[in-house]
Amino acid sequence: MCGIIGYTGERDAAPLLLAGLQRLEYRGYDSAGIAVLDDGEIAVVKGAGKLSALRDGLEGAYPPGRCGIGHTRWATHGKPTTDNAHPHLDCSGAIVVIHNGIVENYLELRAELKAHGHDLRSETDTEVIPHLIEARMDAGDDLLTALRQTLVRIRGAHAIVAMSKREAGRIVAARAGNAGGVVIGYGDGEMFVSSDLPALLTETQRVAFLSDGEIASITASSVQYVSSAGDRIADKQPQVVPFDPVSAAKGAHKHFMLKEIMEQPECIMDTFRGRAIFDPPGVALESIGLADDVLRRVSRVVLIGMGTSMHAAMLGRTYFERIAGIPAEVDNSSEFRYRRALIGPDTLVVSVAQSGETVDTLEAMADAQRRRAPQLTICNTPGAQSTRIADGVVLTRCGPEVAVASTKTLTASISALYLLACHVGRVRGVLDAARLAERIGALARAPGLVGEVLGLDARVREIANALATHENFLFLARGAQYPMALEGALKLKEVSYIHAEGYPAGEMKHGPIALIDRTMPVVAIALDDGTREKMLSNIEQVRAREGIVVGIVTAGDAELAAKCDFALELPPYEPLLYPLLSAVPMQLLSYHIATKRGCDVDQPRNLAKTVTVE
Ligand code: AGP
Repeated sequence: MCGIIGYTGERDAAPLLLAGLQRLEYRGYDSAGIAVLDDGEIAVVKGAGKLSALRDGLEGAYPPGRCGIGHTRWATHGKPTTDNAHPHLDCSGAIVVIHNGIVENYLELRAELKAHGHDLRSETDTEVIPHLIEARMDAGDDLLTALRQTLVRIRGAHAIVAMSKREAGRIVAARAGNAGGVVIGYGDGEMFVSSDLPALLTETQRVAFLSDGEIASITASSVQYVSSAGDRIADKQPQVVPFDPVSAAKGAHKHFMLKEIMEQPECIMDTFRGRAIFDPPGVALESIGLADDVLRRVSRVVLIGMGTSMHAAMLGRTYFERIAGIPAEVDNSSEFRYRRALIGPDTLVVSVAQSGETVDTLEAMADAQRRRAPQLTICNTPGAQSTRIADGVVLTRCGPEVAVASTKTLTASISALYLLACHVGRVRGVLDAARLAERIGALARAPGLVGEVLGLDARVREIANALATHENFLFLARGAQYPMALEGALKLKEVSYIHAEGYPAGEMKHGPIALIDRTMPVVAIALDDGTREKMLSNIEQVRAREGIVVGIVTAGDAELAAKCDFALELPPYEPLLYPLLSAVPMQLLSYHIATKRGCDVDQPRNLAKTVTVE
């Protein structure tokens, strides 16, 4: 979950490392540090807390040098102190390492290293790595070989970047397992390395991604790739990625979260642009990767994801069943692994992952791959590991999502799943041309309608101001809206630290109703989508217990609006796609409540954007 950056070239490394770390801070922000090599010496500067602490500590006096590495940490082993911050050094200060992952056998390695006289100073698992490299280099290995041999000793999944004053100007980087990505950036007379593509985009769009078991060795003018066995990988070439670095900036908005909520009409449109064909009606998914025959043969679909991506996957289940006519189930990626789901070549596995690097989802995908299930993935990050495991990919085209709380990638993923279900339904002969035309016509209306819903922002802010001091919320919905109730609760928890629960409204009477009194706001999604009457009854039940009702209702439904303490009216829409609209006021509600409470909206405590530990 940590962020990694490295640079070697002709420019001063420190300012570039700090700028890269700034773009990576959403991955972890317990502490940060950089190491810069100059004139045969390595200078290390670290700070506990946010990157600003490190910047303040430097007071503008950046350590000189043209080769360096930097890290933002999300603590796993050891408290978020300066001592535990990366980079970590060996005994002599000649080798410096940053790391993402967990060294599972670090206790035994620490004991072994100490017994051999190594001086370990932090509480981290990472610190064993520079000492293991030191031992290998002392025995005569070069840095690349020493890192490769170190990987043999450490258990777990890792992204590791190291440099040594014994090989000035060189940085080595390795990826082992699914602890997070490693991207090599190609500049003009300079090279970069990072855990995340967006951190490199202002410098270069020419990149190569390390696969599991690959190691890179870079200097300002060269790059060499080897396998974990030490064989040269000669055919690895950089690719040019299309991200626009300007879109990673906050623009006029106070927070990335608000900017990203506001971008949703465009992201939905970009996700179906060129894929939803109107005349004659069709769906063209450019990287589907699975032949029509395979899609005809599968007898069911299993969707997986975590957090917000799992909520999108829940809607995907509805789409596969209702649009494509295939039995579908959904599981949390982590639980999918534990339940040992019965899947095989007749099961289509569809994963949803914004980052494409969430370890639980990658492991579930690897499991599905072992059992020869055909796989598709919905992802927002071109080149991410999930896109390389799956047979095919439907990329959401949102650009980088910087706020830790996912917003625009939720609605883009839902749109992508809808398109995918239309494609599969068409291939399987379930969806005729006329019905397909209606389906994609409905999706084409989404950007305009979401834009309209964003116009509720001022009203949502008023409601947020009225409710910001409450400490518990319930979110209720039925049918296709139920995943949005879960998502509404997740968003509120994440950014405002308010306890919130999402429930299928039918479940309310089976327990949660006991919580309702005059202090409990209940957000009820009660739209004209076939669930209205039953939601109306649930709202009455909440009112009877003096709960505070925030109703998300269809415009013109005066009867329902009158039953709510606060009503948010959405334009009428196609029931299956209505979640694209209902998600928006709940995102805004969380955002405004969090800002009212003074929370750090873009970087909520304890969270990280990409979760690469299990
Ligand atoms: C959503 O707001 C969260 N940040 C989190 O639940 C996220 O959706 C989850 O970690 C999955 O990430 P992924 O889509 O990159 O796999």
